[in-house]
Amino acid sequence: MSWDPQQYLKFADLRLRPALDLLARIPAQSPGCVFDLGCGAGNVTRQLAARWPHASITGLDSSPDMLAEAKRQLPSARWLQADLSTWRPSQPADVIYSNALFHWIKGHRQVFTGLFESLSAGGALAIQMPRNQQEPSHTITNQVAQSGPWRERLAPLSDLFEIWPPDFYHELFRSLGAAHIDIWESIYQQALVGDDPVLEWIKGTALRPYLAALAEAPELQAGFLKEVGLRLREAYPKGRDGVTLLPFRRLFMVAVRA
Ligand SMILES: C[S@@+](CC[C@H](N)C(=O)[O-])C[C@H]1O[C@@H](n2cnc3c(N)ncnc32)[C@H](O)[C@@H]1O
Repeated sequence: MSWDPQQYLKFADLRLRPALDLLARIPAQSPGCVFDLGCGAGNVTRQLAARWPHASITGLDSSPDMLAEAKRQLPSARWLQADLSTWRPSQPADVIYSNALFHWIKGHRQVFTGLFESLSAGGALAIQMPRNQQEPSHTITNQVAQSGPWRERLAPLSDLFEIWPPDFYHELFRSLGAAHIDIWESIYQQALVGDDPVLEWIKGTALRPYLAALAEAPELQAGFLKEVGLRLREAYPKGRDGVTLLPFRRLFMVAVRA
C-alpha cells in the first residue's frame, strides 16, 4: 500500500496536535538516542529534534515517498526504511516515539514488549493511536466495502486495524515492570471545512488500503469513493457556518523502563 505525503499533509495542523500532546508527556530530559517510528513526512520528527537538539534522531518508515519528504524537511536526522512490525533498535533507546502508526500493525503484545525491552534504563516508549473503529467514519467504510461490486476485492481488508482498550496496555506495561505508566484518551472535535471533508480526511489514512486494492479498477474505485462520500455526508452534516465537526478519539501511552 502506498502513502501520499500531499494527501496526508492536507490536515497537517490537526494531525500535529495529538503528536505534541504525546511529546509533552515524555519525562526524558536529555535523551541521547531517539527513534520516531512511522515518521511519515517528518513533520513530527522535527518537533522531537526541536525538543532534544542534542539527541541523535532517527526516523523510520516503510514508505520511500514519506521518507523522501521527511529527509527534505530535516536533512540532519537519520532516515531509515524499515518494517516496524519486526524492527528493534540495534542499541538501547532512550526514547521510542510513535504517532499514528501502531494501529496498522498486528500483535501489539509481542511488538510492544520487544520495543519496551529495547529501552535503556529510564528510557520511555511513547505511542499514540486513533481508536475510532466504532465511529461512522470506519463503520460506513466497512459497510460500503462489503456491499458493492467491489466486495470481493475488498474482502481481505475487513480486519485491518489492531487496537485494544486502555486497560490492555496498562496491564501489559505493568507486567513488564514499568517504573511509570501514563495512559489517556482524548476526543478531538476536528472542525473541517470544504465539501466532503471527512472523506478527504480518511483518504489520507484509513481509506488508503481500499483505494490501493481498487487501483487497477478505476471505475470501481470511483464508485466506492462516491458511495462512502455520500454516506459520510449524511453521518457528518455540514453546520450552517460551513464547518463539519469530526469527533476523533485517540489513545495515548507513555511507559518508562525501570
Ligand atoms: C498516519 S502516518 C503517521 C506519520 C507521522 N507519524 C505523523 O504523525 O505525521 C503512518 C505512517 O506509518 C507508516 N507505516 C505503516 N505501516 C508501517 C510498517 N509496517 N512499517 C513501517 N512504517 C509503516 C506509513 O508509511 C506512514 O508514513
